[in-house]
Formats: sequence, C-alpha cells, structure tokens
Amino acid sequence: MTVLVTGGAGYIGSHMVWELLDHGEEVVVLDRLSTGFDWAVPEAAELVVGDIGDQKLVEQTMKRRGVDAVIHFAGSIIVPESVSDPLGYYLNNTVKSRALIESAVRCGVKHFIFSSTAAVYGSPEKIPVTEENPLVPESPYGTSKLMTELMLRDTAAAHDFAYTALRYFNVSGADPKKRTGQSTKGATHLIKVACETATGKRPHMEVFGEDYPTRDGTCVRDYIHVSDLVNAHYLALERLRKGRGSLVANCGYGRGYSVLEVIDTVKRVSGKNFAVAKSGRRPGDAVAIVASAERCFAELGWKPAHDDLEEIVTHALNWENLLARRNRL
Ligand code: UFG
Repeated sequence: MTVLVTGGAGYIGSHMVWELLDHGEEVVVLDRLSTGFDWAVPEAAELVVGDIGDQKLVEQTMKRRGVDAVIHFAGSIIVPESVSDPLGYYLNNTVKSRALIESAVRCGVKHFIFSSTAAVYGSPEKIPVTEENPLVPESPYGTSKLMTELMLRDTAAAHDFAYTALRYFNVSGADPKKRTGQSTKGATHLIKVACETATGKRPHMEVFGEDYPTRDGTCVRDYIHVSDLVNAHYLALERLRKGRGSLVANCGYGRGYSVLEVIDTVKRVSGKNFAVAKSGRRPGDAVAIVASAERCFAELGWKPAHDDLEEIVTHALNWENLLARRNRL
C-alpha cells in the first residue's frame, strides 16, 4: 500500500512525507513544483512532477504504485491573491480537486484526506470555533476549499469512498529534526515573516492593525506546530483504514496568541530586537480565530506534542537559520 501525497514538495506536504516515512509507509509525491522544491522531497519517497488535474498521469501513478490513500495538500493558499484572481483559485483548488477525486474513485482509492482551512468559517462570532459553526467563507480561497469539502461529502455518499477534511488554523514551526521547514518564497505568514526579520532577511516587519477589540489591540490566532498537524493526518489515515467513516475536524490547539505576543516571542527566542512598524489593518483579517479541537482529540486520539509557542518559534528560527546558511554557501 502506498500513500499519494499531492503538494508533497511544499511546506506542510514535505512534513507529511517525513511523518509517513517515519511510520514505515511507502510514499509517492505528486507536485508540479510551482511553489515547492524537489529537494524538499526525501529520497525515500518517489517524486512525480506533474499536475493533480492531469488524470492520465494521476491514474497511471495510482495504479503503478498501488495507492490506497490520497493526502491532498496541493493548492493555492494566499487569501488576498484569491480575491484578485478568484477563477485561478477555483481552477487550482476546486476544479483540479474534482479531477483528483474522480481519479481516486476510478482507481478504487478509498481513503482521501483533504487539507481544508479555518477560512471556511469566515469571521466567527464565537470562539472557540466548533465544526458546527456556520460556513461563511469571506474569500474565494475559503470558498474554493469549502466546495471541495462538499464534493468529498457527496462522493462519499455515492461511492465506496471515505474522507477526512482537516480544517487548519495557523500552521507554523518546522520539523524538530531540521529535515524540512517553510521554504516558500515571499511567504506572508506572521511567524515566517518575523523569523525572516530576526535573521536579517528583511530589514523590518509590520503589524497590521493595533485597534482590534482584543487584549492588546492586535489579532488573535491559534498557532499550531506543523509536526502536530501532520501527525493528526497520520491518525486520520489509520482511522480511515479501520473503516471508521468520513470526518470533518478542526486542527488547532484551542488557545490563541496576539500578533504582538508572537513578535515578542520571536524577539526573545532569537535574541534580536528587530524593527517593527505599525501599519493599518490588513483587509480581510478576522479579529480572533481559535479552534475547538475537541473532535480531533476524541475522534483521532490526537495528543499534541509541541503545543508551546516558544518551541514553535525555536523550530521556525532553526529552519530560517539553515536556509540563510544555505543561501550564503
Ligand atoms: N500579520 C502581521 N504582520 C505580518 C503578517 C501577518 O501583523 O507581516 C498579522 C495578520 O494581519 C494577522 C495575523 O498576523 O492578524 C496572522 O496572519 P497570517 O498571515 O500569519 O495568517 P492568517 O490568519 O491571515 O491566515 C492563515 C492562513 C490561511 C488560513 C487562515 C485561517 O494563512 O491560509 O489562517 O484562519 F485560511
């Protein structure tokens, strides 16, 4: 049995590949390398360079490798970009996911794990956010992911097929063993940006909005370590293989940190008092999003091992330092 990981050359996907290999799984990665890197795929996994919408290639790969499960990360993930290019997002995230799901059904692949997002909730009125919260995405990115969840739901009702959709909160950090990390160019995520500033890759960074109704005026998010996140996927895979049926679950820790708390932690851990400028609110930012992770704990038996902001930041900084050293060589 082999697991097909789409987007396995990217940030979360490459951590997933290591998690699967660590559990003795056979892995094939499908990635078109538009934002990922071939060097991010471990040698023990096969890399097929191609598009998830190329059904001939996908189905050949599924049959050739005897794939029993798909873990689907490939997609576009920048919220403001999705506002300016909605049709590009619906193509990459929705239309191509439809093709991939169809290929899975045609090839008799019964298990499917999907990388969904807290963006399906829009700006929730109550936190922590449970899976029963209204689904009102505020960007084409969130809508494109929600549509894929709905396709999976209906496919599971019609075919011998079960899925798990994991709705990620703010994924951050890097592999504690320093085997992979977030290498994406031009990343916009807070912890990545702060670590790039701490290591001198950026001259300064900005805080988007200090007038929100929160404890210090900045937005609050549930930052989850990427290694805990991919472990939840592995548990979801085991659960699907045991025939326990489809599941939609939040992936977060159930606690939030403000932007200023995150920046202070990066300064403390790095020992660098880098420049931080005040800036206006970033359009589309929700005030506070924190997960209720009860379902993930109950259904997957998930036990986070890295729920500590300092640890998340330490691992993100370790990776940033490695990247900086590599670029200097
Ligand atoms: N922020 C700054 N300065 C920066 C970068 C971010 O102040 O340089 C702030 C943002 O304004 C926001 C917070 O830090 O208040 C977190 O921003 P991120 O860009 O790190 O993450 P988001 O919460 O905007 O988005 C993330 C994922 C999305 C996902 C969403 C779900 O990037 O893919 O969480 O909640 F949809």
